[in-house]
Amino acid sequence: MTEAAFTPRVFSGIQPSGGLTLGNYLGAIKRFVEMQESGMETIYCMVDLHAITVWQDPEKLAHATRELCAGFIASGLDPEKSILFNQSQVAEHAQLAWIFNCVARMGWMQRMTQFKDKAGKNAQNASLGLFAYPALMAADILIYHATHVPVGEDQKQHLELTRDIAIKFNHDYKVDFFPITEPVIEGAATRVMSLRDGSKKMSKSDPSDASRINMTDDADAIAKKIRKAKTDPEALPSEAKGLDDRPEARNLVNIYAALSDTTVENVLRDVGGKQFSEFKPMLSELAVEKLAPISGEMARLMQDPAEIDAILHRGSDRARAIAAPILQRTYDIVGMVR
Ligand code: AMP
Ligand code: TRP
Repeated sequence: MTEAAFTPRVFSGIQPSGGLTLGNYLGAIKRFVEMQESGMETIYCMVDLHAITVWQDPEKLAHATRELCAGFIASGLDPEKSILFNQSQVAEHAQLAWIFNCVARMGWMQRMTQFKDKAGKNAQNASLGLFAYPALMAADILIYHATHVPVGEDQKQHLELTRDIAIKFNHDYKVDFFPITEPVIEGAATRVMSLRDGSKKMSKSDPSDASRINMTDDADAIAKKIRKAKTDPEALPSEAKGLDDRPEARNLVNIYAALSDTTVENVLRDVGGKQFSEFKPMLSELAVEKLAPISGEMARLMQDPAEIDAILHRGSDRARAIAAPILQRTYDIVGMVR
């Protein structure tokens, strides 16, 4: 059984496991908007089933799901152009994930660095869901036959596993059914680092709020966090290689480049030779200019949670219309009687 060539289709997801950070925005959401505007078919998901692989307070989970949807729309995703929905509303994700649990091998899962990081020292006490997380992620993508997946650098290994699952399924069942998905990890800020430690990823779960810029931070908070961001005593270099071994300086320049839609080389052409005392206020001003309208719009959208729920509902219906026939064909291939 061979399938026709796969038409380009974009899928990505973000966990509603807390507030959005500048890392989520630059590494993921900003790219989601660009892909929407490129005219490709785009599907973006709030992955609530992934979020509960670690404990989530139920009320906070519901709030974070709506706030994530508000963040998507405030950043420029249009629920008419893109399909926006939450994962738990389309049961086909979990159904295909079970099939993939039976395709993926224990050894593959044990190599996943995110599991090792998140499970920490006490892996025996991690949920079974946290271990199986990447198989559900593969199902998220492949239930739509998605061909392109925009993500930050930290998701690269999970996307390789998604390809391995598609290859093994196609091979075992002698079909050409699931596409071999392309990761889209591009731009100046595929890995935004903590403002307090240039060796750690900026993350919504970091205990230090000063380590990250939240999409809901006001202008004062943004300026204060950038003012206090860790740097080194040197002036900025004029060429990118001058950032080697200077992770904090590199991070701030990457953020500046990504926010202003340009390259690191272009930024350094303008700011090379400046001290951080001069560069940091420039970065604050730029960050406030770009982020303040988004956080304002998020707050406005959050005043009408019923409208957000309606958007997620409509998005789920549209998503299910694509996912259901693909699950049915998968069941036929596997030999499930209907
Ligand atoms: P998560 O919040 O873990 O669900 O991540 C959602 C998306 O944001 C994924 O595509 C991540 O790769 C991306 N992302 C999260 N943190 C960062 C970061 N510090 N830098 C760049 N991308 C990030
Ligand atoms: N694992 C991703 C993250 O933590 C979130 C995610 C779940 C995802 N399913 C996905 C990303 C499918 C892209 C495609 O960032």
